[in-house]
Amino acid sequence: MGDWGDWGHWEWGTGGTGSTGNGVLRALGALGMRDWGDWERLGALGMGDWERLGGLGALAALGTQTGSTGKGHLHQEDAALPRRPHELRDLAGVERHRLLHQHGPTAAQEQQPRGQVMATLLRPRRGYKSTFLASELELQRSASPRAPPPPQELLFGKVFTDHMLTVEWSRSGGWGRPQIRPFQELRLHPAASALHYAVELFEGLKAFRGDDDKIRLFRPELNMERMQRSARRVCLPEFDGRELLECIRALVRLEGRWVPRDPRSSLYIRPTFIGTEPTLGVAPPGRALLFVLLCPVGPYFPGGFGPVRLLADPRHVRAWPGGAGHCKLGGNYGPCLELQEEARARGCQQVLWLHGPEQLLTEVGTMNLFVFWERPDGGLELVTPPLDGLILPGVTRQSLLELARQWGEFGVREAPLPMGSVLGALRAGRLREMFGAGTACVVCPVGEILYRDQLLAVPTMENGPEVATRFLRELSDIQYGRVPSPWATPV
Ligand SMILES: Cc1ncc(COP(=O)(O)O)c(C=O)c1O
Repeated sequence: MGDWGDWGHWEWGTGGTGSTGNGVLRALGALGMRDWGDWERLGALGMGDWERLGGLGALAALGTQTGSTGKGHLHQEDAALPRRPHELRDLAGVERHRLLHQHGPTAAQEQQPRGQVMATLLRPRRGYKSTFLASELELQRSASPRAPPPPQELLFGKVFTDHMLTVEWSRSGGWGRPQIRPFQELRLHPAASALHYAVELFEGLKAFRGDDDKIRLFRPELNMERMQRSARRVCLPEFDGRELLECIRALVRLEGRWVPRDPRSSLYIRPTFIGTEPTLGVAPPGRALLFVLLCPVGPYFPGGFGPVRLLADPRHVRAWPGGAGHCKLGGNYGPCLELQEEARARGCQQVLWLHGPEQLLTEVGTMNLFVFWERPDGGLELVTPPLDGLILPGVTRQSLLELARQWGEFGVREAPLPMGSVLGALRAGRLREMFGAGTACVVCPVGEILYRDQLLAVPTMENGPEVATRFLRELSDIQYGRVPSPWATPV
């Protein structure tokens, strides 16, 4: 079908067989277009060619109305002409869809410059909703609301609030209305693709109640962006992250009394997105369900800010180049359980995930990894592994990097961390702190590493830990509204 990169995975939610992206590719292939280089030829295509495309079936399956555009030729030099699927999506996607819904397709099409004809050709068919809208949220209240337990009694992920958010999607109609309803079990077809092929992703963020009694979310738009990146990887459909965020805000407001009044506790928010396609074929799902659960969580370090011991076993990897380690897919977590259990059995709390011949340190359990050390030339430096596909791009990681760069007091580098360099720094007494970073704890100091049956002492606590503690304090101050910041926005 030619070399069209990720267009083959591109899902408009309509289409006949397979994904719509593939249908379009077949049609373009029939016109002799094999790759993005041939995209140049679009400039020479007339409407008749597009009619033929429609006649070939794939674009018709998109519900396109080639004649209705009536604009003549496409012009490559038009700045607005999109060159990649994501640009197409941006043009023909959520904002435009909203316009179409509000004002009707004809008026919107009339205003389009010629360069956007392609976007028009590929627009989702009429009646197909390419996003859900928070303004259409439906609420069904629980008839038996419960009293939240005291924060000290909360174990992570075991207590859920009274309500949940659900939104359904289907290939034929697109997104349904978002619904807040009493917390309840799901009904799933036993062949649902989430159950068989891990067509599933999730997110994790928190709501915090400040001393001023306001409830705030911490950089939730970053979670929405990551969620959409994860969705692309498993061919789950697009939606407008801002609309989901508005729905989440509404859910958190409704469940406000579940946000603990305690400066170390919070309400954990778990957006989840699953393929519910009731078919055993391995293919992009034609049905999906997005839902959001809320769990009140107590202090991560009830006994004080204590260090963890890590198991580093180079025989196991969490992710690999070209894989999906940078996406928050359920399929990345199940296969980590065996080593996690082995770590527990060997007296370690977390796994230090290594990768490749250089045994690159990548992540700590479900946290990003930071090292604060003295370089051989004497300069102080904070180092964290780069976003090379092997690690999850953490919201906390990004925030710590931004904070440290604002401080400007030591070097800050995103660079590979081979085990050899870490061992060398430990031996030379240059390694000051090592810690994990994630939503659950903000930062988690590392005290020891069990590596090749040797227990290596890491002097994180002996060094304060100055940097880790400062990160914890500054981020908590922002999250609980003690320091005003655009990173923490009231719900
Ligand atoms: C594998 C992995 N790495 C890192 C993180 C930290 O990410 P964040 O700071 O967004 O919580 C998480 C948690 O979400 C994770 O599961």
